[in-house]
Amino acid sequence: MYNAFFGFRENPFNLSPDPAFLYRSHQHDEALANLIYGVHSRKGFIVLSGEVGTGKTTMLECLRDYLEAQYIEFAFIFNSRISTDQFFEMIAYDLDLRCSHKSKTEVLFALNHLLIQQANQGRTTVLIVDEAHNLEWDVLEEIRLLGNLENPRLGKLLQIILAGQPELDRKLDAPNLRQLKQRIVLRCSLSPFQPADTDSYIRSRLEKAGMPDQTVFPPSLIREIHTRSQGIPRVINAICDNLLLTCFALERREASLDMLEEICRDMRLEWPGMPQPRGGVDGPFGARGPEAARPLPLPHE
Ligand SMILES: Nc1ncnc2c1ncn2[C@@H]1O[C@H](COP(=O)(O)OP(=O)(O)OP(=O)(O)O)[C@@H](O)[C@H]1O
Ligand SMILES: [Mg+2]
Repeated sequence: MYNAFFGFRENPFNLSPDPAFLYRSHQHDEALANLIYGVHSRKGFIVLSGEVGTGKTTMLECLRDYLEAQYIEFAFIFNSRISTDQFFEMIAYDLDLRCSHKSKTEVLFALNHLLIQQANQGRTTVLIVDEAHNLEWDVLEEIRLLGNLENPRLGKLLQIILAGQPELDRKLDAPNLRQLKQRIVLRCSLSPFQPADTDSYIRSRLEKAGMPDQTVFPPSLIREIHTRSQGIPRVINAICDNLLLTCFALERREASLDMLEEICRDMRLEWPGMPQPRGGVDGPFGARGPEAARPLPLPHE
């Protein structure tokens, strides 16, 4: 809506995970390098965890681009609220297995065949599961069993990446998942940005959208955006998108603190140290909007 007003080629603060807008913070860079290394090392499970909205799916999308460029076969399961039957169907569909997708036995045979064929050609195969914290126990058990597929000469045949919110780490600590936990060879995690990263992140997205030397967000406002977003990229995007929209509506070239105040009220954002309205916040959990990512606990909590 405001793209022409600011001269953007595309919306700089889109909410969808888009590798074209990747900002390579140290931790995102490291996470992606770990995922790629994990795939090539062929040793077992890789876990990527992180708070809501910190960039896990974005990392997986970057990995997807990498795998496609390297012609590495992969299945990408992004909806984790599935039964075991649906799980095997999705794998069969993604890997284009020539068998009845409804029969677990047939899928397992076809999968095994594909894995060995790929391994014989010096290639590996990857299973990526996003939102893995939502997986049912029986699906996790099937995933563990798939992790057993190996060949003494060729190593692990299927590299499995589980990505999810911190509940995933807690889930993997459960006694019944001890075997799976032991097979995790690599763990990486994403945290919210530090202030300097928030600043570079905002500039990087604006630059990629066509504004190399941005003047819309003054440094003091960026510091305030960091505080209120708590450094969570998804919240930063939502705030910045709203600020650009407000600027456009008011025909202003620079965003202001007043605009930010109003947007945070509309988003019902909460952040550590925010001034409390008289009479307290709404309800036991505060006035948190459903679109806002869950704020991190205060340091003393
Ligand atoms: N390093 C990054 N570079 C560019 N954009 C990023 C980065 N990290 C996160 N984002 C942006 O932040 C938003 C949230 O990212 P993403 O969906 O990947 O988070 P997530 O950790 O998967 O969240 P959830 O826990 O809800 O699944 C997206 O708009 C994404 O484009
Ligand atoms: Mg995600």
